Amino acid sequence: MKGIFPVEKFKSKDTPFYYYDTELLRRTLHDINKEAGRYEGFNVHYAVKANANPKLLRIISSAGLGADCVSGGEIEAAINAGFPASKIVYAGVGKSDREINLGLDNDIFCFNVESLAELEVINELAGNRNKTARVALRINPNVGAHTHANITTGLAENKFGIAMGDMEGVIEKASEMKNVKFVGLHFHIGSQILDMGDFEALCNRINELQKRLECSNINVENINVGGGLGIDYEHPNRVPVPDFKAYFSTYARHLKLRQGQSLHFELGRSVVGQCGSLITRVLYIKQGTAKRFAIVDAGMTDLIRPALYQAYHKIENISSDGAVATYDVVGPICESSDVFVKAYDMNESRRGDFLAIRSAGAYGEIMASQYNCRRLPVGYMAEDL
Ligand code: LLP
Repeated sequence: MKGIFPVEKFKSKDTPFYYYDTELLRRTLHDINKEAGRYEGFNVHYAVKANANPKLLRIISSAGLGADCVSGGEIEAAINAGFPASKIVYAGVGKSDREINLGLDNDIFCFNVESLAELEVINELAGNRNKTARVALRINPNVGAHTHANITTGLAENKFGIAMGDMEGVIEKASEMKNVKFVGLHFHIGSQILDMGDFEALCNRINELQKRLECSNINVENINVGGGLGIDYEHPNRVPVPDFKAYFSTYARHLKLRQGQSLHFELGRSVVGQCGSLITRVLYIKQGTAKRFAIVDAGMTDLIRPALYQAYHKIENISSDGAVATYDVVGPICESSDVFVKAYDMNESRRGDFLAIRSAGAYGEIMASQYNCRRLPVGYMAEDL
């Protein structure tokens, strides 16, 4: 056992694979419930897109969280894992008829509607089933987040949500439709946000919008502020990570909830990010003309974040305590971007050593692909090894 990893148990396994520290996940869930539980009407949904491994989903649903889904497949995964449909919210700019019907048949908590065109389709499909769909409008708050451009979502230029200027008009239209019921507003400004000031800016924007709606006598049952709380990729072992206390208290202090209103969160990365590591074996050490490469058996097909977002993941050699050497850690895929990290100092590595690529629990396994006809990585729970 080196650090938190049962290296002996890894020896009989094919690599690469994801390893989930389920004790850490349970501690994280406990923290979330404790910190959100301080405030009345706070409800946390887990954003299934971050990781839909069925065993992880079971642990998360058992902790009492709801689910935030972005496709019919995620709704099915959530229901199979025991999330009650009454705690499922469903967002997404391109919901297909089949997916909307699935949401209707399961009586999910609400559809987060992203356009008037979608609202009309939901009304029609609900009408076909003699049902009333609960809908929240996803509003694009035009609030920037200090994060990677590919993962900000709340700017006017992004494809997500309904423009603020259209809000009252769409609510008015919803009130004229027979088979939808307007129940709330939904927002999401981006992901991997570490500056609480960004969430505060969202609160201020929501306060403004709520005032506007009050002037038009429009009642809002619930507010959903999306997710986005970031984690510390530099220090995967630091606790408490992330700071749920600061996160929930920011909303408690800055968002003016009305009597009886409930507040919903959709957290993904902060729930599962730190509990997962991608475990890989070193295949070859190669001295190039200018650099030394550690070639490993995991690639961008297993964890695409470094290639896609230049994301940093800490890498540890968990087999060796040797002197430190500098490597580019690269995978076997035939793409130059198949690099986990460049010019990186880690313990001197040899063929067969295990490396742990840390903080990979969120947007890791779920974004894996079979490019180059590779096998999808499996995920092991600590207690199953
Ligand atoms: N709610 C909505 C509407 C979202 O679009 C997202 C994430 C979340 C909640 C959850 O956000 P979180 O708490 O995980 O930040 N693949 C990227 C991240 C994409 C996030 C997409 N939306 C990455 O690997 O960094």
